[in-house]
Amino acid sequence: MFSEFQHLIDLSDYPVAWWKKVVDLGERIKNDPSAYAHKCEGKVMATLFYEPSTRTQMSFQTAMIRLGGQIIGFDNPANSSVSKGETIKDTTKIVSSYADVLVIRHPVAGAAKAASLTADCPVINAGDGGHLHPTQTLTDLLTLKIEKKKLSGLTIGLCGDLLNGRTVHSLCKALSCLPDNKFVFISTSALGMPAYIKDIIKANGSSFTEVNDLEKAIGDLDVLYMTRIQEERFSSREEYLKQKNTYILDRRKMLNARKDMIVMHPLPRVDEISVEVDEDKRAMYFTQAKYGVYVRMALILTILEEKQISETLKGKIYGGVRCNNPKCITNHEEYLPKSFRSSGDETLLECEYCDERILI
Ligand code: CP
Repeated sequence: MFSEFQHLIDLSDYPVAWWKKVVDLGERIKNDPSAYAHKCEGKVMATLFYEPSTRTQMSFQTAMIRLGGQIIGFDNPANSSVSKGETIKDTTKIVSSYADVLVIRHPVAGAAKAASLTADCPVINAGDGGHLHPTQTLTDLLTLKIEKKKLSGLTIGLCGDLLNGRTVHSLCKALSCLPDNKFVFISTSALGMPAYIKDIIKANGSSFTEVNDLEKAIGDLDVLYMTRIQEERFSSREEYLKQKNTYILDRRKMLNARKDMIVMHPLPRVDEISVEVDEDKRAMYFTQAKYGVYVRMALILTILEEKQISETLKGKIYGGVRCNNPKCITNHEEYLPKSFRSSGDETLLECEYCDERILI
């Protein structure tokens, strides 16, 4: 299957130089936004948000408006024909005939990939379940570039729900491609970083440690990336309550942090960062969300300017093999062609939509 459009489903589909170029453009836009005010005149962006969002949806919309373009879309699928049972395939086919670029958020892993198979315009993944969130990563990279003046040689602590947090999955995949970055995963054992992300980090030549004590770890960090415990990804409220409030960053813990450490968070915050930390000059999360507009402007411009013929599914169909992950889009939309990559181990395949490993 081939597509003539440049989709952004996973940053790993591109060389490091490509996403560095987007981040650099984001910085240039931040420094002179008026120079880009008319770049997308006559263009339409559709935002299809099957899952709630404040920052991603509105920063994309702001980005397109600030580029001189227009926006359409829905932020509640109940108000669209999705509520009548319309598939991603059909919704995408129709909306991509109205728009020049389509931004999709969905609660199920692989949904943006599925949309890209039939879209007649570029598709941008704005978060697919607990899987990936590449445009949050572009936002995070721009924040690091501006606030830490570098993207390599950093010790980054990631704290909270590392199992379900799509932002930390995308960020670790990207930062592990750059030299001398070290990761400290701070979580309970139940919410640790998935094995496949740890394998990617190792394969990229970066190192990580896994700890459960934020207070002990904080003093070694250049960056502390806090995350919310993602209640909506738990099987029950009881399971969520067992994890809630495990990690709370407060003024007392910040006393142990370096003077130049920065605190990042993709937001929304629940209670994992006390509001008293907001006054600390190292708290960067509100600035980070603001930078999201500039980098999304850069991404829209890049995606609309570049065209390339690429294979949308690079894996193979293994007769009868299905993905085991109940949160994979192939188990929600039956018509999708199953596609698996070889993992290097002949008994293991990787689902091309959600990265789940399947034993055969
Ligand atoms: N960071 C982020 O994805 O926030 P929203 O869920 O508000 O879009």
